[in-house]
Amino acid sequence: MTEQEPIYRGKAKSVFRSDNPDELIVKFRDDITAFDGAKKDELAEKGIYNARVSAYLFEYLRANGVPSHFVRMEDERTMIVRPLKMIPVEVIVRNIAAGSLVRNYPFEEGAPLDPPVIVLDYKDDTRHDPMINEEIIVALGLMTADEIAGVKQTALRINDLLRERIDEIGLDLVDFKLEFGRHGDEILLGDEISMDSMRLWDKKTRTSMDKDVYRFDKGDVMATYAAVAERLTGA
Ligand code: C5P
Repeated sequence: MTEQEPIYRGKAKSVFRSDNPDELIVKFRDDITAFDGAKKDELAEKGIYNARVSAYLFEYLRANGVPSHFVRMEDERTMIVRPLKMIPVEVIVRNIAAGSLVRNYPFEEGAPLDPPVIVLDYKDDTRHDPMINEEIIVALGLMTADEIAGVKQTALRINDLLRERIDEIGLDLVDFKLEFGRHGDEILLGDEISMDSMRLWDKKTRTSMDKDVYRFDKGDVMATYAAVAERLTGA
């Protein structure tokens, strides 16, 4: 079914048409990239772990009243989703200061952020995903002010739910990135929620359990991804 050409090829996932016009096929590849694609590698089975964690979290969110594009898994790295017209805005929720927040502003790494901080970035690698604000989003015609408010509210609800679950497996949800898209009149959560898009720190040791292990050569990336997948999904 996925032998056709992808209709979209991202840095770590490829999207294929399906026979059902209200479904798309998303294949999680083993590619891993960082720094807008400047660092890239292929790590065997990485796509399987990210697909498994994403599917698990989309199901968990659905069970708690937060719908997304997720329909079902087709095989261990293939997800069936609703077709969305993606909005090129990355919605980042931060509970602990890290990453670009610490690089760009005078926060101390590890400082708790209460209430959580939402950052909106314009998704465009050629521009290095610059931070965007609500006025620019509205001026570009990407979302209305009401839609932005709705997306932020959903992001905070997702944060509450993810934090609760991730806390149970001994990790802190430092920050994570969400993407949304249009499906008819609705704006739905899309993309993935995985070790590529979250920062997770071990509660006791504060060691990274996410893509920072790859970005900054902090250890065995695949062992880390497998450990998170196992703790979260039991598989
Ligand atoms: O780099 P920064 O600190 O802004 O990243 C915040 C969070 O968003 C991290 O969890 C990171 O993995 C995620 N992110 C992402 N895709 C991007 C930028 C950030 O998944 N393009």
